[in-house]
Amino acid sequence: MADQYAASASGTGSSVPALRWEELPEGPVLVLLDQRRLPTEEIELVCTDVPALIEAIRALAVRGAPLLGVAGAYGLALAAVRGFDVEEAAEMLAHARPTAVNLGYGVRRALAAYRTAAGSGADGLQAAAAALAEARALHQEDADASARMAAHGLELLEELLPGGGYRLLTHCNTGALVSGGEGTAFAVAGAAHRVRELRRLWVDETRPLLQGARLTAYEAARAGMPYTLLSDNAAGSLFSAGEVDAVLIGADRVAADGSVANKVGSYPLAVLARYHHVPFIVVAPTTTVDLGTSDGAAIEVEQRPGYEVTEFPGSVSGNPVAPLGTQAYNPAFDITPPELVTAIVTENGVVSPVTEAGLAELCARSRSG
Ligand code: MRU
Repeated sequence: MADQYAASASGTGSSVPALRWEELPEGPVLVLLDQRRLPTEEIELVCTDVPALIEAIRALAVRGAPLLGVAGAYGLALAAVRGFDVEEAAEMLAHARPTAVNLGYGVRRALAAYRTAAGSGADGLQAAAAALAEARALHQEDADASARMAAHGLELLEELLPGGGYRLLTHCNTGALVSGGEGTAFAVAGAAHRVRELRRLWVDETRPLLQGARLTAYEAARAGMPYTLLSDNAAGSLFSAGEVDAVLIGADRVAADGSVANKVGSYPLAVLARYHHVPFIVVAPTTTVDLGTSDGAAIEVEQRPGYEVTEFPGSVSGNPVAPLGTQAYNPAFDITPPELVTAIVTENGVVSPVTEAGLAELCARSRSG
C-alpha cells in the first residue's frame, strides 16, 4: 500500500532525498520522492509493501538505474521486515522493469544477505536486519561511486577539452534523483560547475515523459547551473551551430562489449556527436555494467504504453495529442554501439577507447575489492 504526503523541504539547497527508509510506529516504510509530480510539487510516497513499491517503479515515481538498485534492495528488506515471502518478493521486484540491470543487482544483494543470515541460524527479524544493512550499504556505496565518477569525469573533460568552459549536452535525468549521491553524468556536470568550467548545460527535454525538462532542469536550477532546455529534435541544429563540446549521458545497462542502453534518444545523439566530432561520454557505476549480457542485441528494451506518446506530457496530465486509437511506438531505451562511445566513466576509472577487456578490467576492480 502507498500513502502520499507533502514533503517538508522545498526551494533551493538541500533537497528531499529521492528515497529513504523510515521506522514509523506502525512499522518500517520506504519513502519515495514521487518524481512524477516534479517540478511543481514535492510529494512523498510511502510504500508499506512490495506491491506498492513495484507500482511506483513501473509508474516511474522512482526511476533511474542506480536508484532502482537501491530501491530493489530496500524493497527486499521491507518484505523481510514485514514478514512477506522474501523469495517471491525478490522475483517480483527484480522483474518490475527489465532494462536497468541495477534493479536485479540490488535485489540479489539484499536477498543474499538475508539467505546467509537465515542459513547461519538467524531468526526472521535478524535475517531481515541483515537485508536492511545490505540495502543501506548499497545506498552508501552508490553515493561514494557517484563522487568518484564525478572526479574521473571532470579529469576526462580536462583532458579532452583543455580550453575549459564546457558546453555539455545531457539527456534524460542522471542527478541526485537517481542516486544515493549526486548521480552519474549530472554529477560530472556538477563537478565542472563547481570549478567554474561549466559554460552551459544543454538539457534535452526527453520525450515522452520529459525527465529532462521536469527533473534535470529542476536539479540544474537548484544547483545554480547555467542551463538551457531544448526539445530533443533541436539537438541537431545545436551541434551544427558548434554549440556542443561534449555529450554526457548515463546508462541503464552496459553490455560486456560496451554497448550502452540508455533513455531513448541517446543513440541519435551518439550519431550526431560522431558526425560533428564531439566526444560522447557515458557515465555509469560498475553496477550498471552487465558482463553476463554479451552485446546490445541481448539487452531487453522495455516497451512502454502508447498513451505516453499519444498524450502530453505522457501520462502526467493526460491531454490527448493524437486521434483516438492512434498506435504508438514507445521503447523506453535505445542501444548505442560501443564504436560510437568515446569513453565510459565508472567509479574505478575510465575506459577509452571502449573495449570488452578494458571494461572487464574496471569491473574486476570492484568485484575483487
Ligand atoms: O525510464 P527512466 O527514467 O528510468 O530512464 C532513466 C535513464 O535512462 C537514465 O539516463 C539512466 O537510468 C541513467 S541514470 C544514472
